[in-house]
Amino acid sequence: GVGRRLYHENVIDHFENPRNVGSFNRDDPDVGTGLVGSPSCGDLMSLQIKVDVSGQIIDTRFKTFGCGSAIASSSVASEWIKGKTIEDVLTIKNAQIAKHLRLPPVKLHCSMLAEDAIKSAVNDYKEKQAKANGGVAGDT
Ligand code: FES
Ligand code: FES
Repeated sequence: GVGRRLYHENVIDHFENPRNVGSFNRDDPDVGTGLVGSPSCGDLMSLQIKVDVSGQIIDTRFKTFGCGSAIASSSVASEWIKGKTIEDVLTIKNAQIAKHLRLPPVKLHCSMLAEDAIKSAVNDYKEKQAKANGGVAGDT
């Protein structure tokens, strides 16, 4: 249709073939969950990471209730962070995602959700680890 031409092919691709859709069990100790939303438009994004002992993200899942740009942004993020360490992914900026998807300025906040979701997922994982490790403090 005519509307299709307004979207970059990368958006259409991630919209039609979203990667890593779904969810992990939030309670698993090796899972970090980032849950972010945009109250202004009511969009909600969940991005989850599964992390191995060396701090590498070995798998990801996302669920996004929102516009096509938000879905595409979270799909891209879920792909980009896989195989990287939890420290490396903190450098991913929403501008990179927006550029990849050629998002127009009015849709920049959609990619911001994805950047926030990455940081939130890493934070959640780190907090969980800190709590778990707290239990064995003084072991040495
Ligand atoms: Fe309509 Fe976000 S404002 S989907
Ligand atoms: Fe609100 Fe895309 S996330 S319009």
